[in-house]
Amino acid sequence: MVAADTTPPRSLAVPLAGFAVGAVVALLVGVFGKVHDPTLAGTTTLGFRTVIDMKVVLSVVVGVLAVLQAIGALWLYGKLGAGAPPWLGTAHRVSGTVALLLTLVIAYHCLWALGLETGRFADGEPVPARTVVHGVLGCAVLGTIVVKVVAVRSRRAPGWFLPVAGGLLFTLLVSAVLTSAVWYIGTHGWPGAGGYG
Ligand code: HEM
Repeated sequence: MVAADTTPPRSLAVPLAGFAVGAVVALLVGVFGKVHDPTLAGTTTLGFRTVIDMKVVLSVVVGVLAVLQAIGALWLYGKLGAGAPPWLGTAHRVSGTVALLLTLVIAYHCLWALGLETGRFADGEPVPARTVVHGVLGCAVLGTIVVKVVAVRSRRAPGWFLPVAGGLLFTLLVSAVLTSAVWYIGTHGWPGAGGYG
């Protein structure tokens, strides 16, 4: 007797819905970042000297985890030649969850204490292009996290959806870290080494 195929039919509606919801989330985060009055009340340094120090260090951890996630995904998809070890799937899921939670902590602090800065600061000085780009990337990261979670959870998504969602999240996350933590360390030095903030 041939076993019944229990795989549900693939549907393009899943990625379309995922991208639509992700875009709405990114937009709403951006609107919140513009209308909310930035405040340090309700933030934490997690024991670091300042909130910025905490974000820079956690962002470096997130950047390293993102690179490991990308390598792990390529390995799991058999793109690195040698077969993936049996523990890799679990390790990929655990470190991905840690990266996601750290990203949410960092993004909350950016949004709550700084907001989405565009145009001019209150003193009339123009907001630097890097800051604008970083803020927009940050909003896109949060929207893409939604897309990625939909891609991971759905059994009806076409096979291309998960690698595309993962690749997009990796690209945006690394760009957000490069335009913030990496810029900060390049300009002010490692946190605690006389930096500002
Ligand atoms: C939710 C959307 C986000 C918004 C609106 C946002 C906004 C901002 C703003 C306005 C700054 C100050 C930039 C400056 O001083 O010129 C900042 C700093 C920072 N952000 Fe974000 N951000 C977001 C998400 C993220 C994410 C996802 C990460 C990393 C995973 C991140 C990491 C950092 C770090 C490390 C700093 C401190 C270094 C710096 O001053 O650039 N942010 N963010």
